[in-house]
Amino acid sequence: MEINFTLNGKRVSISTEPTRRLLDILRDDLGLTGTKEGCGEGECGSCAVLLDGRLVNSCMVPAFAMEDKEVLTIEGFREHQRFKAISKGFEKAGSVQCGFCTPGFVMAAEALLRQNPHPTEREISEAIEGNLCRCTGYNMIVEGILTASREGDGLW
Ligand code: FES
Ligand code: FES
Repeated sequence: MEINFTLNGKRVSISTEPTRRLLDILRDDLGLTGTKEGCGEGECGSCAVLLDGRLVNSCMVPAFAMEDKEVLTIEGFREHQRFKAISKGFEKAGSVQCGFCTPGFVMAAEALLRQNPHPTEREISEAIEGNLCRCTGYNMIVEGILTASREGDGLW
């Protein structure tokens, strides 16, 4: 089937199987490999992207649900000022350890800060509940998001 959607601000049209995963479309068909595959079952958040501004696991989104939707991946988000604020916050707090889970955490941070520019630690912890870090780095990730919210004040 043919699917038309907006990807990182540009209209795209692809022909694919209706049940093909958005994750595979991004990585294999469109070469956007910043979105990572971890569990492939909706449990780890490493494949997280924003779909119409909402955080979703792209391994759980079928192509047929994509018509006319708006997708933001880490590649598109990199162009925003807000990405710089989040990456600076992560850098200051030492949030990035493996790099593999990081794009998902960055997208989760953006989804949260869009809704709530000044979250509490608890709200941040809840917002990243769906993102798995295998190296027990959660405190530093929470701190990184807090720093981004403080120092990027006015961007969200
Ligand atoms: S790869 Fe999608 S949630 Fe883990
Ligand atoms: S920093 Fe990536 S799994 Fe912990």
